[in-house]
Amino acid sequence: MNIRAATAADSAAISQLLTESWGSHIAVAHGVAYDATTLPAIVAEEDVRLVGLLTYNLKDQELEVVTIDAPTQHRGVGTALLDAATEVARAAGAHRLWLITTNDNLDALRFYQRRGLRIVDVRPGAVDESRKLKPSIPSTGAYGIPLHDELVLELLIGQHRHL
Ligand SMILES: CC(C)(COP(=O)(O)OP(=O)(O)OC[C@H]1O[C@@H](n2cnc3c(N)ncnc32)[C@H](O)[C@@H]1OP(=O)(O)O)[C@@H](O)C(=O)NCCC(=O)NCCS
Repeated sequence: MNIRAATAADSAAISQLLTESWGSHIAVAHGVAYDATTLPAIVAEEDVRLVGLLTYNLKDQELEVVTIDAPTQHRGVGTALLDAATEVARAAGAHRLWLITTNDNLDALRFYQRRGLRIVDVRPGAVDESRKLKPSIPSTGAYGIPLHDELVLELLIGQHRHL
C-alpha cells in the first residue's frame, strides 16, 4: 500500500469514493458544508487503485480531518491515513488534529480512541441541524442507532498520549 498526497489526477477517483461512501462529496459538520473534492487529501493506493482517502482542512494551526474512508476495512488503511495526517499536521506546526464523528459510529469511536484521540465535546442535536443543510443524512445510522449528535475528538500533536 502506498500513502501519498493527492494530486489533480486523483480527482475523479476521489469524487467517486466520496459519493460511494457518503452519497455526495459535500460533507456537513459543525454547521459547515465542505465540498470535500476541493480539500487537500491523502490517498492510499494499491496497484494504482484508490483504497483509502482522508481529506483535511488546515487552519489556525489546527488540522481538521473532514473525511476518512477505508472502504475495505480492517486492513490498516485507516491507521496509515491517520498517521499520515498527523505527520502533515506536525510538519505544518499544528498543535492539534481534530475531527467530528457521529453518535452512531461506534466503530470509528473505537478506532480513534485506540489511536490516542480523546472525546473533547459532545453536541446534542448537531446532526439534526446538519440534516437541514444536507437532507440525505439518514435518520438512522450504524447499528440501527438514531443519528442525532456530533462528537468532537482531538489528538494533541507533539505530546505523549496514553493509548
Ligand atoms: C473508520 C475507518 C476509517 C477505519 O479504517 P480501517 O482501515 O478499517 O482501520 P484499521 O484497519 O487501520 O484498524 C481497524 C480496526 O479493525 C481491527 N480489525 C482487524 N480485522 C478485523 C476484523 N476482521 N473484524 C473487526 N475488526 C478488525 C483492527 O485490529 C483495528 O482495531 P484496533 O482498533 O483494535 O486496532 C474505516 O473503518 C471506515 O472507512 N469506516 C467507514 C467510514 C467512516 O465511518 N469514517 C469515519 C467517519 S468519522
